[in-house]
Amino acid sequence: MRQVHRLVMRMGKSRFPVLILGETGTGKEVVARAVHNVESRGPFVVVDCSSLAGPLIESELFGYAKGAFTGAHNQKLGLLDAANGGTAFFDEIGELPLEMQMKLLRVLQEKEYRAVGALSQRSSNFRVIAATNRDLAVEVREKRFREDLYYRLNVMRLRLPPLRERREDIPTLVLHFIQRYGNDHQVPDETMAALQSYDWPGNVRELEHTVQQMVAMNSGPWLPTTALSSTITHFESRMNGSTAAAASSSGFPSSAQSIMTLAEIEKRAILQTLEYTKGDRTVAAGLLGIGRTTLYRKLKEYGV
Ligand SMILES: Nc1ncnc2c1ncn2[C@@H]1O[C@H](COP(=O)(O)OP(=O)(O)OP(=O)(O)O)[C@@H](O)[C@H]1O
Ligand SMILES: [Mg+2]
Repeated sequence: MRQVHRLVMRMGKSRFPVLILGETGTGKEVVARAVHNVESRGPFVVVDCSSLAGPLIESELFGYAKGAFTGAHNQKLGLLDAANGGTAFFDEIGELPLEMQMKLLRVLQEKEYRAVGALSQRSSNFRVIAATNRDLAVEVREKRFREDLYYRLNVMRLRLPPLRERREDIPTLVLHFIQRYGNDHQVPDETMAALQSYDWPGNVRELEHTVQQMVAMNSGPWLPTTALSSTITHFESRMNGSTAAAASSSGFPSSAQSIMTLAEIEKRAILQTLEYTKGDRTVAAGLLGIGRTTLYRKLKEYGV
């Protein structure tokens, strides 16, 4: 993360496009804002590419002219207009539909676009930061992402490591979140050890939610391992023999015990389905309603 920090400082001082890669919850948006804040010029506008679907995409991005369609009583500025002088953060860029990729490429090349229903071109001067949890090189190879747009965006690249590859950061993050959400809560060594040995498929976001849950359920000051979600303690006991096995039968209310993050639920669903199909991934993907490549990607993310 020190290296990430150094890169952020260097990237923040230039105006070249930045591409941020990393699993879900690793802090891509946090880093994008940090890059922007180094010089903090102008607005930071988030363009959520995963929600940019359907016929509204263009008017969201480029705005529309008065009278462009029924109900367009006034002209409306788009996200790109709003980013003028600052940064446009294209979040989940890997989700952008192919035809929009072409339009975005044109905008990035010419810095000019036309609002829906407008006759003249508009221009906006913004810095480009894009992020995705997909492997864009693979997306390009499989023709789901335009190669020319990839090269446009991939000028400076930053890869955020998953939390399981930087476990030494976990105590610092835990204390940071306790300061934010807790109330003089203290973390005993064995609880910290359990938090450090868990693999965190949802990365920092999952850790943050776990700390939130732990402090919400405990008046403090100590946060015993029994305050951990059962997924983490089960994981712990599998890793370390029996240390935390008792935790799951500790009389913690079952409703609290059954709280899981979406990442945990997803991982469980996948592993259980694979067990059911005796490891047949094609059948498992079908049962889960996802593509086979998505299943492979997720298994890789979980290190399975
Ligand atoms: N280094 C950090 N210090 C403190 N909080 C962090 C850090 N990294 C991430 N977080 C927190 O973790 C959560 C997830 O971060 P963020 O939204 O940036 O992840 P992301 O990579 O964009 O995830 P996704 O791919 O799911 O959108 C946020 O609540 C953020 O505040
Ligand atoms: Mg994000």
